[in-house]
Amino acid sequence: MKKYKVAIVGATGAVGNQMKEILQEHDFPIEKLYLFSSSRSAGKVLEFKEEQITVKELTPDSFEGIEIALFSAGSKTSKEYVPYAVNAGCVVIDNSSAFRMQSDVPLVVPEINPFDLKWHKGIIANPNCSTIQMVMVLKPLYDRAGIKRVVVSTYQSTSGTGWKAMIELREQCEAIMNKKEVNVQVYPYQIAFNVIPQIGAFLPNGYTEEELKMVNETRKILGDETIAVSATTVRVPVFISHCETVNVELKQKLTASQAKDILSSTIGVKVVDNPEDSIYPYPLMAKNKDEVYVGRIREDLSVPFGLDMWIVADNLRKGAALNAVQIAEKMIKLRLI
Ligand code: A2P
Repeated sequence: MKKYKVAIVGATGAVGNQMKEILQEHDFPIEKLYLFSSSRSAGKVLEFKEEQITVKELTPDSFEGIEIALFSAGSKTSKEYVPYAVNAGCVVIDNSSAFRMQSDVPLVVPEINPFDLKWHKGIIANPNCSTIQMVMVLKPLYDRAGIKRVVVSTYQSTSGTGWKAMIELREQCEAIMNKKEVNVQVYPYQIAFNVIPQIGAFLPNGYTEEELKMVNETRKILGDETIAVSATTVRVPVFISHCETVNVELKQKLTASQAKDILSSTIGVKVVDNPEDSIYPYPLMAKNKDEVYVGRIREDLSVPFGLDMWIVADNLRKGAALNAVQIAEKMIKLRLI
């Protein structure tokens, strides 16, 4: 089997670290792994398969000879450096929002729209973390009954913002417990013992950028511009895993029991739903797991064909790094790399 020269851009970050772990876990066919960061972390040594790899500073000519680049260093870095990678002949799987809505860039969840990989022109976008876990559950329902409208509220962990936010949550908790002054830097307000209804900048229509990502990306991945989506995205003081309440209005009736059956046989989705025994998914259950968890599946009493549910997934894995590695694996399988 062919082995590839693979780069992780943002290797010292929360998602980049997971990318490295998952490449190792999956025994991805790697000839050589290159790790890049900004000048801040250049020189750090990270382990991969018992090999010590020195992290290098990302520069425009970092991509010479590299075949696959997994980008996870934010939109600004992607906008600046992805073109250099593509010009060097690299296939880029980009975890940022920089190219997701470009019409010539596939936005892919491998279980849902692997066929879109075929028309890539060097860049494949990895969707937003909250969108991935939601569409993993929506897709099989969409195929069976069609979807008119989705109303989603998220409960997103601090790891979605990166290491700095996770450290800030821990330090704020410690400061409060020790009656010390709380330092607020990453979010507009203290996140410890708090809930913040803002992820990304506000737009003139009152939604945030994160909320519109959920609207636009859901339609692009499912290939249906008619699906109405209304999202409210909220940051909660959790380290890893995002949760979502999702209300979906279908075009045809599905009972809760039918929905459970459909979701139980969906690859990558795990139904955990036994309310009598207080059994449902929660962030600590999904942490370090690959599946998207769904529970609290019930019929909406307020509309004829509605379902309510609760979706939880590890945002660093299926929401980011795992999905990116799965895209690369699928491309190899389809002989696209
Ligand atoms: P660095 O460690 O040098 O800051 P997180 O999302 O956890 O905050 O991590 C972001 C990742 O993106 C880190 O690996 C960070 O490297 C990297 N990064 C940020 N800015 C750049 C840049 N301009 N060039 C390359 N990597 C960058």
